[in-house]
Amino acid sequence: MSSVDTSKIPNSLQEHWMPFTSNKDFKENPRLITGAKGVYLTNHLGKTMIDASSGLFCNPFGHGRKEITEAVAKQLEQLDYCQPFQQGFGGSFELATKISRHTPGNLNRIFYTICGSTAVETAIKIAIAYHRAKGDGQRFRFIGRERGYHGMNIGAVSVGGMVNNIKTFASILMPGVAHMRHTHLPEHKFISGQPTTGIELADDLERIAANFGAENIAACIVEPIAGSTGTLVPPKGYLKRLREICDKHGILLIFDEVITGWGRTGSAFASQEFGVTPDIITMAKATTNGVVPMGVVACKEEIYDAVMDAAPKGAVELFHGYTYSGIPVAVAAALAVQDIIEKDDIFNRAKEMAPYFQKGLFTLKDIDVVENIRGYGMMGGIDMKTNIKPGKAGFECFKTCYEVGVNFKATGDCLIIAPQFICEKKHIDEIIDKLRTGILKYSKNIKN
Ligand SMILES: Cc1ncc(COP(=O)(O)O)c(C=O)c1O
Repeated sequence: MSSVDTSKIPNSLQEHWMPFTSNKDFKENPRLITGAKGVYLTNHLGKTMIDASSGLFCNPFGHGRKEITEAVAKQLEQLDYCQPFQQGFGGSFELATKISRHTPGNLNRIFYTICGSTAVETAIKIAIAYHRAKGDGQRFRFIGRERGYHGMNIGAVSVGGMVNNIKTFASILMPGVAHMRHTHLPEHKFISGQPTTGIELADDLERIAANFGAENIAACIVEPIAGSTGTLVPPKGYLKRLREICDKHGILLIFDEVITGWGRTGSAFASQEFGVTPDIITMAKATTNGVVPMGVVACKEEIYDAVMDAAPKGAVELFHGYTYSGIPVAVAAALAVQDIIEKDDIFNRAKEMAPYFQKGLFTLKDIDVVENIRGYGMMGGIDMKTNIKPGKAGFECFKTCYEVGVNFKATGDCLIIAPQFICEKKHIDEIIDKLRTGILKYSKNIKN
């Protein structure tokens, strides 16, 4: 008789088609999470695991934050929903003011969306609307980057550079998109922080501009640090050069900070961390500590002004929005997060913990099956040697680590590590110790 307690498994796992999941594998061997508190998760077997990736980079302020729960409950009692078109409520304006205090430069105009993908899609539409408003309607091209991840709607997949997504949906992607090369070079081995080589990869933008006509390009979108493909840190000077090329040609620069926003690098945004101000920033995830879906687009004031000025008074200036754009419950969670950021001095906390985390992460470099490690701030990627089928090493290693009590996400053969900002040194130690145990156990299994 099996000793496994199946009482927390629902009667059937078949009906739910799970996202980005090996459904067949999962349903044979489910991993159900039943509780979360602070930096720990509990699964249906009653086992406690440390959360080494803040969910999907969403919960850096810790699971089960009472302040957020209470704010959401209170909001639901007072005003559960209010339509966001031609109507509003005070909270969304208050939140926009608070967000704009953290955004760099004059990115002070805030548009709410539902998630990261819709934030990216909105940024794309705002870029188009801006150029049209300025009489530059021919600017329809977008430039993304290989190994970029911007989400899963058509716009986001089009500008993204994840091979499997692009291959699968090639027939329905946006026209006019070109991709720069990614910034990961073979010599970038076991580097914590910014590589010193590779700045010239930014010149891909210049080259694409020359090939397609710079006057036809609406915007260039990049993640300042590519997160989902394993912390690809920009080479020194790279983002600044992108900024210069965009300025030269009137191309808008969009930073997708869905992962790097709200402290992951140790600054509010990677933009401030790297000293480069884009025209538009997208954010999501940590905006609400991941508990209620919400995306945000912050734009320079002149972008907003141009779109406003182009429309007659009384007309809808931007034909875009979502039923759930900045709904009260999401705003309540985000306002509670703003309080936590202030009260707990979150960005400084992340900045102070980052060197300790980075040091710990790179102690794993001696493990035979570890191919490479990259890191910046409170994020890191561990590439596993791909000695079987691509993607298999990452998935198998993830499952072994889950068994030993450390949870994270694997993308392909890269383990994505992004501890919560509330981690103390002992939690970082636990993450690193368990990663070592799990990776070694995995490596023993593949050798047998
Ligand atoms: C940089 C980046 N942009 C956009 C997205 C898409 O966000 P969502 O899954 O909330 O739509 C993600 C998700 O991981 C992301 O990492």
